[in-house]
Amino acid sequence: MRGMVNLVEINQILVSGDDYQEMAGFLQKAKLKQEFRFVAEDQLTGDDFLWADAYVNFKPTDKFQFGNLKWVHSIGAGIDYFLFNREWNEKVLLTRTICSFGERISQYCLSYILKELQQHQFYKQQKQAKQWTPHEPKLLSTQTVLIYGTGEIGQEIARVLSFFGANVFGVSKSGRQKEFFKQTAAIEHESALIEKADWILNTMPLTKDTYQLFNSEFFEKINGASFINIGRGLSVDESALLEALESGSLTEAVLDVFDEEPLPGQSPLWDHPRVAITPHISAVTTPEEAVKCFLETLQKVEKAEKCPNEVDIKRGY
Ligand code: GLV
Repeated sequence: MRGMVNLVEINQILVSGDDYQEMAGFLQKAKLKQEFRFVAEDQLTGDDFLWADAYVNFKPTDKFQFGNLKWVHSIGAGIDYFLFNREWNEKVLLTRTICSFGERISQYCLSYILKELQQHQFYKQQKQAKQWTPHEPKLLSTQTVLIYGTGEIGQEIARVLSFFGANVFGVSKSGRQKEFFKQTAAIEHESALIEKADWILNTMPLTKDTYQLFNSEFFEKINGASFINIGRGLSVDESALLEALESGSLTEAVLDVFDEEPLPGQSPLWDHPRVAITPHISAVTTPEEAVKCFLETLQKVEKAEKCPNEVDIKRGY
């Protein structure tokens, strides 16, 4: 296995990021033999990276260098912060966090889909006007959902939505069939699926193949669908999305991720009545979950076992 011989000795671990103090609390209780440095992102120095064998954070930050690192563990599911448009040292193992992301993201999507089918907004207005006008709620079984990304997260969304009767289709790089999807297509062959979809969900990692994948050519193909982005903002051309909302080809956009985060105050997305915005919360990693996944991974790294959460650097996810 690549580099594993060197990976066994992990003695000095650098932990940073927004939750480094909470993680410190859990890790100190674990009484590991390794030495730790818990450092706020803006306090990280080049020396920290020369000292550490392993680095744990969501992002590299501007002081990041490979230094003496043997292993980088991402607290997030996405590792584009480490790989996209950056050089990676292939000798360094990169792992990512796997925890309740699928459960969280599927409930996020389900909530926005049901809100529309059950017409929450309409009945809110009816109540304000003291109106009694029955409109039949739609069932999930009338809905066709197309999920981009059939990995860990996409598959859990497919499982949850198909349990409620939705017709779920998938798109992935390979187009390989996966459980809970009625059919799966490769990215290049998906036109027919786009046209019939009521909901299109993006869970794909950001790579050179998915950068600006949802562009004007894509939005021209859709037929009144709503779009939920729980992948990465840079996969979407935001101006093409706004044009599609104006032309009516796109009914609604639910966006948890953006080109630039926090979304700048001047972005027209804020004021658009058919855009829902959430601040990258559809799959938060709690410090507790982050530590649990980190400890499981550390055990495997120390025993030179294959980590199921190891990132394939060439593939980019
Ligand atoms: C969140 O976006 C993550 O990558 O975990």
